[in-house]
Amino acid sequence: MTAPSLLRVPGELLESFGPLQPAVLPGRAGPLTAAARLLAESLLGDMGNRWLHTQGVAERAAGLAGPLGVDADLLTAAAWLHDIGYAPPLVVTGFHPLDGADHLTRNGWPVRVAGLVAYHSGARFVAAARGLSEMLAVYPDERTVLADALTYADQTVGPSGDRVDPDARYAEVLHRHGPCSWNARVDPERGPHLRAVARRVEHLLARAA
Ligand SMILES: [Fe+2]
Repeated sequence: MTAPSLLRVPGELLESFGPLQPAVLPGRAGPLTAAARLLAESLLGDMGNRWLHTQGVAERAAGLAGPLGVDADLLTAAAWLHDIGYAPPLVVTGFHPLDGADHLTRNGWPVRVAGLVAYHSGARFVAAARGLSEMLAVYPDERTVLADALTYADQTVGPSGDRVDPDARYAEVLHRHGPCSWNARVDPERGPHLRAVARRVEHLLARAA
């Protein structure tokens, strides 16, 4: 499949910035976020709820960076990009964290961004069940507060971009994807993982308040 010319724009934009590194100072979104938003919109902008959800997750992530003391540019960029693997031109394995990370890697994005996308929201549990762990393992699984923040942002924004409780969000996804879905099959491992992430983030947010 030939990629639409629109998909080449973010790569050119990235080149214009030179070698992209996440911003050093926490609390400041920067060029990585701008490029990520452009790429996300080019891929998901006509995908209805997927785009609304993505915008909500990016806004949520940007708001979490300061209180959690993590790199706002890196976190917000990863939030814009976390679901690009759902875009039809990017689908290879059909596992969106992996397909998204693969696209980012092939287009020169920083390895931390690809790793955050690859492992967001307990992707490693689904990858293991689907026999994709080896493919996922080429990306760094950083298991940091920032990675928790990305998962928390994803788990607290519903399908149409509305803010939701993480338990309600998790239940909604399980219901929407059905009892035979991969998410449902790995629920005994992924569910406790997501609840632990939420507890860690909410503990830090309460401490920062
Ligand atoms: Fe998402």
